[in-house]
Amino acid sequence: MIYIDPPYNTGNDYIYDDDFAEDTKEFLRRSNQKDEAGNRLMANTESNGRFHSDWLSMMYPRLKLSRNLLRDDGVIFISIDDGEVHNLRKACDEVFGESNFIANIVWQKKYSPQNDAKYFSDSHEHILLYAKNKLSYAVGLLPRTEEANARYKNLDNDPRGPWKSSDLTRQEYRPNDDYEIVNPANGRIFRPPKGTSWGRPKANVEQMIKDNRIWFGPNGDSVPSIKRFLSEVKQGITPQTIWMRSEVGDTQEGKKLVKDIFKNATIFETPKPPRLIERQLLTAKFGDDDIVLDFFAGSSTTAHAVMQLNAKDNGKRKFIMIQLPEHCDENSEAFKAGYKTIADIGKERIRRAGRKIKEENSLITKDLDIGFRVFKVDTSNMKDVYYIPDKLDQGNLDLFKEHIKPDRRPEDLLYQVFLDWGIDLSLPIEKGTIDGKTVFIVDTDAMIACFDKGITEEFVKKLAGYKPLRAVFRDDAFESDSVKINVEQIFKLLTPSTELKSI
Ligand SMILES: C[S@@+](CC[C@H](N)C(=O)[O-])C[C@H]1O[C@@H](n2cnc3c(N)ncnc32)[C@H](O)[C@@H]1O
Repeated sequence: MIYIDPPYNTGNDYIYDDDFAEDTKEFLRRSNQKDEAGNRLMANTESNGRFHSDWLSMMYPRLKLSRNLLRDDGVIFISIDDGEVHNLRKACDEVFGESNFIANIVWQKKYSPQNDAKYFSDSHEHILLYAKNKLSYAVGLLPRTEEANARYKNLDNDPRGPWKSSDLTRQEYRPNDDYEIVNPANGRIFRPPKGTSWGRPKANVEQMIKDNRIWFGPNGDSVPSIKRFLSEVKQGITPQTIWMRSEVGDTQEGKKLVKDIFKNATIFETPKPPRLIERQLLTAKFGDDDIVLDFFAGSSTTAHAVMQLNAKDNGKRKFIMIQLPEHCDENSEAFKAGYKTIADIGKERIRRAGRKIKEENSLITKDLDIGFRVFKVDTSNMKDVYYIPDKLDQGNLDLFKEHIKPDRRPEDLLYQVFLDWGIDLSLPIEKGTIDGKTVFIVDTDAMIACFDKGITEEFVKKLAGYKPLRAVFRDDAFESDSVKINVEQIFKLLTPSTELKSI
């Protein structure tokens, strides 16, 4: 599942560029709409003709990529307000296909009216839901609530248990379904009320009467209705397209939760309530070891919701949060509390929320995994070496001696190999020392890696003894050329199925 809560393009915050976010003041100055003295040169930017188009240009490639990342039975939920919902819907129709549209969910984001609103006071937002492939997606049912179950009673002590009566009439006249129904208990005859007809054919209803599935009211004189048994309804509730704040929380709840976690500081202005995302996880039919991706993570509410749900049902769901290192405003409470970027806020939220969930549910959550790894996008680990073949001479052979950038740590090289080989980035890693060299053992035998120099045959034999699926060294790490040549033979002899790589 993917959930995104992108900037809504409200016109008063940021101009979103693919490389960075800059504030409106800077953008206006750079684009010559304001001069150095701060005088605005152009009228309202919202009406400059590229307001929506800029936002859509930012969204479009991200939507495309999300579609590629989704599993065939996966879904994407996108939060948005009335300002861009129509444009976003069109963009999604194009990227995901109109036929994969599932729902436009309306979320009641607040309760109190905003009396200073110029026109209407907005109390809702939208959540667009698209499937990667509608035919592969089965909607997740919501757990039955006490309240929903309480609507089922057992007025006639039916041995099949509580039931609820539902209408037998159809709000349309069909001559074939205009027939007499007789209550066998007292012989009373019923015809459908004027302008309507019975919703089922005669033979069907007669069978249901025999089976005691038609209800004629406590005195046997009410219009017949169908008895629907609680034991026969679906094991959950089919989700509706309106999500009320009483069920999934509102903006105030989201804000309060983050405030509590950060000891009363308003560290993030627009967090969603975790319950809203929990509801999405349920309707997405999110398996208990599936992965959710949120690439506008903000304060990482999505991670919070995933850990919360895992704590409730012992799930092993994983999350991937992506957040631009957008700088916090220097006057913000977040900045004053020591958080330089929104990514810093998100990370700390996951730590604190995880600890809190563990504390609050200490009995159930003994094994709850609240750990996470942080990766930052960076340039290649490999040195860029530029030379003109004709001009190559002894003097510049040095260029090729060290091929890895000097500031890279062994961990950087390790994760490069993870990516090259397509190894799951969340596998457990053990860091140890063998013969004074740092060695990484990944998931017992998935991979063994050493990026230290001075590798000898004895050392290689020791690593081969672990019989890993993969083994990695630095290309320039071997003590001598003969060791380098022999490594392959040593592995072939001791553990022929190991894949060998040097970087
Ligand atoms: C509305 S917030 C998400 C809030 C989040 N759902 C929560 O509950 O905390 C939108 C996020 O998108 C990020 N963002 C803005 N422009 C972006 C861009 N061009 N690319 C990626 N992220 C961006 C912002 O830094 C912000 O954290």
